[in-house]
Formats: sequence, C-alpha cells, structure tokens
Amino acid sequence: MAGASGGALAAEVTAAGAFGFLAAGYLDPASLRKELALARGILVLAASDRLPVGVGYLAWKLEKSTDAEAEEMLAAALDNHVQAIWLAFGVHIDKWIRYIRTYDEKHRRRDPTLIFVQVPSVEDAVVAVKNWKVDVLVAQGNESGGHGYRAAPPLLTLVSSILQVLPEDAPPLLAAGGMTNGRHVASLLILGADGVVLGTRFLATTASLYTEAQKRALIAAKSGSTVRTMAFDRVRGTVEWPAGVDGRALYNSTVKDVEEGVDIHIAEEKFKKGVQDGDPDRMLVWAGTGVDLISGISTAKDVVNELHDVTLERLEMASKLYTGN
Ligand SMILES: Cc1cc2nc3c(=O)[nH]c(=O)nc-3n(C[C@H](O)[C@H](O)[C@H](O)COP(=O)(O)O)c2cc1C
Repeated sequence: MAGASGGALAAEVTAAGAFGFLAAGYLDPASLRKELALARGILVLAASDRLPVGVGYLAWKLEKSTDAEAEEMLAAALDNHVQAIWLAFGVHIDKWIRYIRTYDEKHRRRDPTLIFVQVPSVEDAVVAVKNWKVDVLVAQGNESGGHGYRAAPPLLTLVSSILQVLPEDAPPLLAAGGMTNGRHVASLLILGADGVVLGTRFLATTASLYTEAQKRALIAAKSGSTVRTMAFDRVRGTVEWPAGVDGRALYNSTVKDVEEGVDIHIAEEKFKKGVQDGDPDRMLVWAGTGVDLISGISTAKDVVNELHDVTLERLEMASKLYTGN
C-alpha cells in the first residue's frame, strides 16, 4: 500500500503469521532499501537470509522511469532476497516479470521470487495466468480501498467469474477488496478463493504510516463514506495512472470541489493546507467499503489474530449448515 505500508507494517504482519507487503510506491531506491532493512531488523534476520515479506510496485512508475532507474528500484527488493514481488497498474507488466525471472535465473535462486499480479477482470486474469505464468493471482473488486479499476466488478462476482475460467493447474487466487473482519474472509474462502488480501484494515494499525488524523478519520467513517474518484490524484498531481484507474477514498470537500469544477489550483491549495492541518474534510484517506467496521487502532498482530479466530469460527459454523444424508 503506497504511502501506508512500510517495513514495520510488513514485518509485523509476517511475524503475526500472515504475509506482509511493503510499498515501493513513490519511494526512491535508497528509501526502499531503508524500509527493507527495517523489516529485516524487526524479523531479526541476517543480511544473507531470505526476507519473508513482499514488495509492491506500481508498474506505471517503473514504466515512467528509464530502464536503468526501474532496474535499480527492482534490484532493491531482489538484492534483499524478498520472498515476493507484487505488480499492478501498468501496461507492460510482462516486461517486469521477465526481468525478475531473468534476475533469479542469473543468480541461480533455488527459491525464486514469487510474482503476484493484481487484476480487475476475467480477461486480465487469463492473460496473467496463461501468458505471464504468475505465481499468485489477486482479484481486486470494486470495493477496494486505494487505486483500482473503475469498471472492476464487485468481489463476489469477480472471484466467481475468474474461478469459472481458470484451468485446474492455475496458481492460487487471492481476493482483495472491502474486507475488514473474519466474517468477510470466511465468505470469500467459501466462495473459492485460496486466500485474501486486506489493505484498509491495516491502515488503522500502530505500524501503518498513516498519520493519527488519517487513522481517526478511518475510525469515524460510516458505511457510505467512500467513493471512487480521481480528485485526490488531480490535486496532488499523480495523474499518470493507466486508463480506467481511479481510487476509493473517504469523500470530503476536496472531492466535492473537483467534481463541481472549482479551479484546480484553489482545490490544490486547500488540499495542501488540509493535509498540513490534518483536516478530515480536505485530506486524503484511501479506504475500502469495509471501513465502517474499523473501530479502533490495534497492532497488526492483534488484527491478524482476530481475523484468524473469527474466520475459523465462521468456517466451523458454515460446516454445520450442511448435515449430509
Ligand atoms: C492506502 C492504500 C494504498 C494502496 N496502494 C496500492 C499499491 O501501491 N499497489 C496496488 O497494487 N494496490 C494498492 N492498494 C490496493 C490493495 O492492493 C488492495 O487491493 C486493497 O487494499 C484491498 O481492499 P481494502 O483496502 O478494502 O482491503 C492500496 C490500497 C490502499 C488502501
């Protein structure tokens, strides 16, 4: 999660028994290496140990850089022997996959980097599995917090539709979008997903890079508080996303101003001041549709444990629904 998940959050999630990703997002190679060193320290690993976290890249950022710059960004993760790399939001994702595979072959990695690719449609899922041979497929539904594809179906539909067309030997399919608690997780597992991805829920943890004001806004949010919008990208000047992408965030006066056609420079000034002041009516808080179920700030460990316990409880309940004959 760009701007929210650093080395501390990723390491704490992994230490709790899930699998944490930190975001390369808008970082430079030196800052990314610092976050990876932080994760390595928290997990008490030697420099030569494999690092059991993943790094998420915005493919459009790599594509905007020169090849040398992009390779330097990828090298920060690969030299650190991270367990996984996540790619999304690009038009040449296959190019970065080839680069990672070649790097692993060149370095004779016995445990190659697992490549996760996030997709918003059945068509993209088929390309990722058949042509790119990804190791893990992530289906991102319309409910998701942060960036996603405007036309992505709701998760329930998307996961079912992808499962319908995947071959038997397809890689694991993870579901992403709108999940906050174990009830959500259990329902997606019953639907047929092999696992789940939660983003927003981890924004309200002690290790997230979100500010106190952003975390408070997450706690205050209601079930109808989020919208999909490009307003925040417009006021902060990050508009180079591939066609069809926008982001789900808490609705506030910044969105209202941009939608109503207020001069973008005025909206931008008010946004910048709002960020400085921690004003929830102006600042940016990415959030998925499940945000209303966040009631406080916890440690990542507590979130993972609670998700685990409630998921098991619901799965056990579900197993009792069918008595057989
Ligand atoms: C603050 C934030 C930043 C995100 N950054 C990225 C990113 O850099 N790359 C990416 O593929 N997805 C990103 N996402 C989307 C997540 O990968 C995931 O699909 C989403 O968080 C799942 O929905 P949820 O937030 O409702 O749990 C981000 C989400 C949030 C909330």
